[in-house]
Amino acid sequence: MRRKALRSAAAWSVLAGLGAALLSACNPPADQQVAREPVVNVPFVPDISINEIMVGQVDHAANQILKLSMADQARLTIGDWQELEHSAIQLISSTSAITMGGAGVNDAMWVAQIGWRDYTSQLNTAATSALRAIRSKDLPALLSAADGIRESCDGCHQQYKPDTPTEGFYRAH
Ligand code: HEC
Repeated sequence: MRRKALRSAAAWSVLAGLGAALLSACNPPADQQVAREPVVNVPFVPDISINEIMVGQVDHAANQILKLSMADQARLTIGDWQELEHSAIQLISSTSAITMGGAGVNDAMWVAQIGWRDYTSQLNTAATSALRAIRSKDLPALLSAADGIRESCDGCHQQYKPDTPTEGFYRAH
């Protein structure tokens, strides 16, 4: 009984020794180890406002889609389809930007509301459908995605947009 216990203890210590040898064989020397980046959990918030994102990105991209989706398919050039694709991508990426807050006075308050998240999600879904339609050159599908995009703009503006935009500037073109 005692001998058996001793033998298995010896077997374990051999195994543990082997394990340690294997581990040290797998570990590259310290100078070859890749430095670990510290993990950052906080979203990056650029120093621009939601109003600026609306004017500089969202509105631009949406206008391209609303305009070109009503064109005659035969007249759309390869360049137009590329423009459409890039505009849909810009709209989709803007949905991340407008859920993070920004430099505007109301931005942090807006992005914390569930309704805001719902409208942003509506914009994201519609813009993603638009991208799919554009990539398969399906103009009728693009037209209905464009309706969804417009509904998300109008819905959110009705609920959240002040009568006069906070920074006093409107879309100028
Ligand atoms: C999740 C809410 C939300 C969505 C979705 C949204 N907007 Fe806005 N938008 C706002 C708010 C709020 C303001 C006012 C910001 C301020 O004054 O600080 C604004 C301002 C603007 C402005 C600048 C003010 C003006 O009237 O000229 C434009 C242009 C604009 N949005 C276009 C659009 C378009 C186009 C879409 C859809 C593709 C859209 N927005 C989708 C909330 C939204």
